[in-house]
Amino acid sequence: MHTIKKFPDNFLWGAATSNVQAEGAYLEDGKGLNVYDMLPGVPGSTDSYIASDHYHRYKEDIALFAEMGFKAYRFSIVWSRIHPNGDESQPNEKGLRYYDDMIDELLRHGIEPVISLVHFDMPYNLAKKYNGFASRKTVDCYERHVEQVVERYKSKVKYWITYNEINTAILHPSLVAGAQVPNGKEQIKALAKINHYTQLAHSKAALAIKRIAPNAKVGGMIAYTPFYPATCHPNDILGAQFINNYVNFQKLDASVNGKYPEYLNTYLINRDALPDITEDDLNIIKNGKMDFIAFSYYQSGVISTPKDEDDIKSLYDDPQKYIHYGLKNQFVKSTEWGWQIDPIGLRYAINELYQRYHMPLFLVENGIGVSEELNGNMTVEDDYRIKYLGDHIKQMKLAVTEDGADVIGYLSWGPIDFLSSGKQMKKRYGYIFVNRTDDDLRDLNRYKKKSFYWYKKVIASNGERI
Ligand code: BG6
Repeated sequence: MHTIKKFPDNFLWGAATSNVQAEGAYLEDGKGLNVYDMLPGVPGSTDSYIASDHYHRYKEDIALFAEMGFKAYRFSIVWSRIHPNGDESQPNEKGLRYYDDMIDELLRHGIEPVISLVHFDMPYNLAKKYNGFASRKTVDCYERHVEQVVERYKSKVKYWITYNEINTAILHPSLVAGAQVPNGKEQIKALAKINHYTQLAHSKAALAIKRIAPNAKVGGMIAYTPFYPATCHPNDILGAQFINNYVNFQKLDASVNGKYPEYLNTYLINRDALPDITEDDLNIIKNGKMDFIAFSYYQSGVISTPKDEDDIKSLYDDPQKYIHYGLKNQFVKSTEWGWQIDPIGLRYAINELYQRYHMPLFLVENGIGVSEELNGNMTVEDDYRIKYLGDHIKQMKLAVTEDGADVIGYLSWGPIDFLSSGKQMKKRYGYIFVNRTDDDLRDLNRYKKKSFYWYKKVIASNGERI
């Protein structure tokens, strides 16, 4: 009898970077300001001017990735490097040439590039002028950007991700979609509009990629935080189902099935919040199909609902209030930043996605943010990272070998230390320490952490030696 015991031989091991968080060079070679540059950042954070200086040191960084044996590397093409204001008809040649060189460098090392389009990098001009993806104008600019980028790199790049963590546009609209939303009664309408235009952006990108590069593989991407019911009270079960649909699944439901799910339409109609959706839009959503589902997984969450209501109305009326990433799950530990460490949740997440969509899955972010410092041997003994990643890889393996899920690759977050989404250098994820802090640039040199050697073995053994 044939049994599945291993990851497939062509499994894509590697890591992922958000280039606005790593590159620095924030106004070099014609780059325009983007929404991440303009983000205030969390208290004690820094700016994006230099970041990890990846812009100038990418060759050294890629050589280190090759030393670890990466098969694939996910990075983002910073939108405002290619279209500094977002609405130019022609791209910035210097920006395009920069990523040409980066892709060539990866290919020279035998590393498959996986490109993210739009990752916290919308040109600030589009955010100011049109309120980002709250407007169709931005969708048009994005479509042109995607066409020109794909045209340029189509002969070198196979894997494309249309929109980083698209489902979080309704949770963090200013960073993820470049849009400001009003508070109060109008909020739900504004979010519904952003939800529609980001969907359209994804579908148009998917269509453009296939039109220009028919053999390319297109992935839509979500941040997947599975929400567990706090108890087996039916209201908690129903509440968790609603939040999982609202936050995790509605984007993929629309992208995979080619139409908005009934639960979303009904929800918006009942609140008089259905945005302007044209016949053309519906056709684009219908035809913009994907080849794989990309997702990030860091943690699980817990949903608790009012128990004295018989229709959990308050949850439906204000879902944002209930998305308590922080509601403590007593059965799991948390990181320094309060993110709940739940490797078994990854197996559950993979099963949920695979059994719902029956499409190849690509885990394109998974990791632990820790505040770290070099020791006297100029390294970091990051056993906690080895444990976190190892435990998650083991659970991913069980989803493949025991549950039959089709997972095509694993990319951890991120290979080198770089700024967090809140612009903190302090929150480090890398296998490679970047020598700077939030307030001291030091020498920006790279030092291998203990996990560097560990991950190298994991990859060399195709996930057998975890
Ligand atoms: C994901 C983003 O949400 O999580 C990344 O795609 C981000 O850009 C990562 O950096 C980790 O989150 P944080 O806030 O710790 O940087």
